[in-house]
Amino acid sequence: MSFSSIRDMDVKGKTVLLRADLNVPAERGKVTDTTRIDRLKPTIDLLRKKGAIVVVMSHFGRPDGENNSGLSLAFMLPALKKSWDADVKFCQSTIGDTAAQFVAGLKTGEVGLLENLRFHKGEESNDNEYAKALAKLGDIYVNDAFSCSHRAHASTEGLAHLLPAAAGLLMEEELNALDAALGTPKKPLAAVAGGSKISTKLKVLYNLSEKVDFLILGGGMANTFLFAQGIDMGKSLCEKDMADEARKIMKHAEKSGCEIILPVDLVTVKALQENAPHDSVSVKSIPADAMAVDAGPESVQNILSKIGACKTIVWNGPLGVFEIKPFDTGTNALARAVAKKTKAGEIVSIAGGGDTVSALENAGVAADFSYISTAGGAFLEWLEGRELPGVTALNKKN
Ligand code: 3PG
Repeated sequence: MSFSSIRDMDVKGKTVLLRADLNVPAERGKVTDTTRIDRLKPTIDLLRKKGAIVVVMSHFGRPDGENNSGLSLAFMLPALKKSWDADVKFCQSTIGDTAAQFVAGLKTGEVGLLENLRFHKGEESNDNEYAKALAKLGDIYVNDAFSCSHRAHASTEGLAHLLPAAAGLLMEEELNALDAALGTPKKPLAAVAGGSKISTKLKVLYNLSEKVDFLILGGGMANTFLFAQGIDMGKSLCEKDMADEARKIMKHAEKSGCEIILPVDLVTVKALQENAPHDSVSVKSIPADAMAVDAGPESVQNILSKIGACKTIVWNGPLGVFEIKPFDTGTNALARAVAKKTKAGEIVSIAGGGDTVSALENAGVAADFSYISTAGGAFLEWLEGRELPGVTALNKKN
């Protein structure tokens, strides 16, 4: 695919409609994590520097096409002003006369923010009339919301066909990082797939098993694979009805020359709570009344030796219940080892998905990875090998 970049576009005096992802964590009217906002700054800065009037569009939450004051974007103005170091003005509408007057009143260098796009039914249904009404507000469309690009909505897909369209800097960065991970990676390539359920990540596992040399499984997902091999998992989280699927994935991986790495030992507890008494046991001797909560020390050593020679690693999902200490030990050990290899220039490391980023932050190494995607669902769909409509629509040939 080839995209127009805002680097090469003449935007002087033009109004740029910038699709951003401001679907940020918030509590009691305050943004609690500004990562997605901060990562938009380079695009906003460049557009402002080039003399554009920037109109930011985003959704927040899932208001289902209804006005919902609890999901208005207005509350985030202070966070946006601070992060972007810009005068950000807010408009209560997304289309029509009010929005048109608002945009007409913006001066070069100022940034406008439209209300939550999903207050309008036309956004999620990718209604052409809604997309046209948005298009009327600007001269150029820039998509910098990779994390929303798995949605074929008016602001992520429809608009791209109505105005000259370009990828923002964050979108470019995401696409380059993802290409380095699974598109044209340096080999050997390993993927870590953790988290609780394989049922939600079946397609991801199939796609990864075709592309990677080592597929490292952790968490509840690994339990299901172990169960599928006839291992008694005691009270561990395990999708017994997915055993056939797990066996199919193992066969598929074997055919594709991908080695699946499963735990050989696990940390088990009788009750899941902070600092619960725990044991490391072989997967062959999990007590009937115990549950697995983390990869054991031998498993972690095994994973570390497998990734020793790897040049690229893609990570989605923790190895254990990292939210409850000390069951973050396995995840932390792997995260720190990958971070160290990344810093030494030995490996390219790419991680994505909500839980994964929190797990790496918990290990204190998120900043040391080569790339951390801002995307959750879009990262997973991309791992599945699916086309993302918002990205496809930016392709110059479409
Ligand atoms: C996200 O947070 O992953 C994106 O903003 C997409 O949100 P959605 O799942 O509500 O479409």
